[in-house]
Amino acid sequence: MSFDLNMIRAKFPALSTTDHGVPRIYFDNPAGTQVSQSVVDSMSQCLIESNANMHGSFVTSQRADQIVDGVHDAMADMLNAASPDEIVFGQNMTTLTLHISRSIGRLLKPGDEIVLSRMDHDANISPWLLLARDLGLEVRWLPFNTETFEFDSDALDNVLTDRTKLVCVGAASNLIGTINDVKAMCAKAKAAGAMSYIDAVQSAPHLSTDVQDIGCDFLVCSAYKFFGPHQGILWGRREVLEKLDAYKLRPAPEEIPGCFETGTQSHEGMAGTIAAVDYFSWVGETMAGEYHDRYSHFEGRRKYVHAAMDLLFDYEANLGSILTRGLQALPGVHVQGITAPAAMDRRVPTVSFTVDGVSPDVVAEELGARNIFVWSGNMYAVEVTNLLGVEDSGGVVRIGPVHYNSEDEVNALLSALADILPRAAVA
Ligand SMILES: Cc1ncc(COP(=O)(O)O)c(C=O)c1O
Repeated sequence: MSFDLNMIRAKFPALSTTDHGVPRIYFDNPAGTQVSQSVVDSMSQCLIESNANMHGSFVTSQRADQIVDGVHDAMADMLNAASPDEIVFGQNMTTLTLHISRSIGRLLKPGDEIVLSRMDHDANISPWLLLARDLGLEVRWLPFNTETFEFDSDALDNVLTDRTKLVCVGAASNLIGTINDVKAMCAKAKAAGAMSYIDAVQSAPHLSTDVQDIGCDFLVCSAYKFFGPHQGILWGRREVLEKLDAYKLRPAPEEIPGCFETGTQSHEGMAGTIAAVDYFSWVGETMAGEYHDRYSHFEGRRKYVHAAMDLLFDYEANLGSILTRGLQALPGVHVQGITAPAAMDRRVPTVSFTVDGVSPDVVAEELGARNIFVWSGNMYAVEVTNLLGVEDSGGVVRIGPVHYNSEDEVNALLSALADILPRAAVA
C-alpha cells in the first residue's frame, strides 16, 4: 500500500472536529501538531497504570521505568542514535538548550568564537548570546542570502576561524522553510575543531533524521512538533556528553542521560512520545514499502520510521508546491522563501508570505474566522524577519501543512485568501 490520506486522517481525532459545523483546517502545525488517538491513549494509560516515580519496588514504578527506557529507545530509533543513553529528555527544546548551554560553556573561555545563524529560531540563538555575554565569547553571525533564502555555499567558511568552538544552526527554518545542508556544515565545523549544535525542531516532523550521518555533536527537537505531546529531546554524542559537567542535583544520577534529565520528567509525555514514534513506524510498515530499501541497513522500527519520513516528505513536497504556486498567483502576495518547483526538496512545506498593504495579523484573523488556523508575526525567528526587512510591518503570515493535510485544504486556504486579500487591501 502507498500513502493513504484517509487512513492517516482517521488516526487523528482532532482532524474531524468541527466548530459550529465548520471543519477545522490546521495550518498552524509548525507551532504544534495534532496527535493520534494512540498518543492520547498511551498518555492516559500511563496516568492510570504507571503513575509513580522511578526506581521503586512496586508495579506502578516499574512500569514508569519501562516507559522511561522505552522512550529513550524510541527516540534512538527516530534519530538513529548509537545508544539510547545519548537521548536526553526535558520540558522543551528551549529549556534543554538553555540548560546544556551552561555545561557546554564550561568547555569555553573568553575570546573563543561561536557561530550563530540568522536563519534560526531564537531558541538556538538567545541561549548562546547569553552564554557569550557571561563568558566573554565572540559571536560570528552566519547570514543567509535574502534572494535565494539559503546560505551561500561559502557562508560558513567566511565565519569559521581557528578560534571557533561551536556552530549552532537549524536543520530547517520555522519561518522560510529552507532545509539546510547541516551534514556539510557539521563537517566544516569539525574540520575547524568546533562542536556543532543542530536545531532539528522543524526538520524532525518532515525529514528522516540521522545524527550519525549528519555528524553533529548535539541535535535537539520537540515531540509536540512531530505529532507527540509537549516534550523536548536532546541527542548528544556520547563522548561529548560524557565530557560535560552536568548542572544537576547531588543525589541525581552521575551517568548520562540521567545527569542531564533534571527533576521528575513527564512520564505521561514520554508514553505519548513512544506512541508518536510508533505511529511513524506504522506508516512506514504499512505505506512506505517502496522506501524500505533505502534503509536496509536499519531494522524493525528504526527502518520503518525512516522510510515513513521519506514517504511523508514526498507527499508534503507536492502540498508545498501547490501552496507556493497558489500564493504566487495572488496579487500583492510575496512568498518569503524558496518557490522554484524543482527546489521543493530544499524546503519543508512551511510557507510564509507578506501582502502589499495588508497586515499579517489581519490575514491570520480573517482566516481564523473561517476556521483556518495559521500564525502571523515573527514566530520567534527575529533574525529572519529583521534580515528580510519585515519585522516592523508585522512579520509574515505562515502556512504550515504537514502530511495529514490534504490538497483540498490547501485549495480551500487559497480560495479564502483570494476572497480576503482584495477586501483587506482596500480597508
Ligand atoms: C526551529 C525551532 N526551534 C526551537 C523552537 C522552540 O521549541 P520548544 O517550544 O520545544 O522550546 C521552535 C518552536 O517553534 C522552533 O520552531
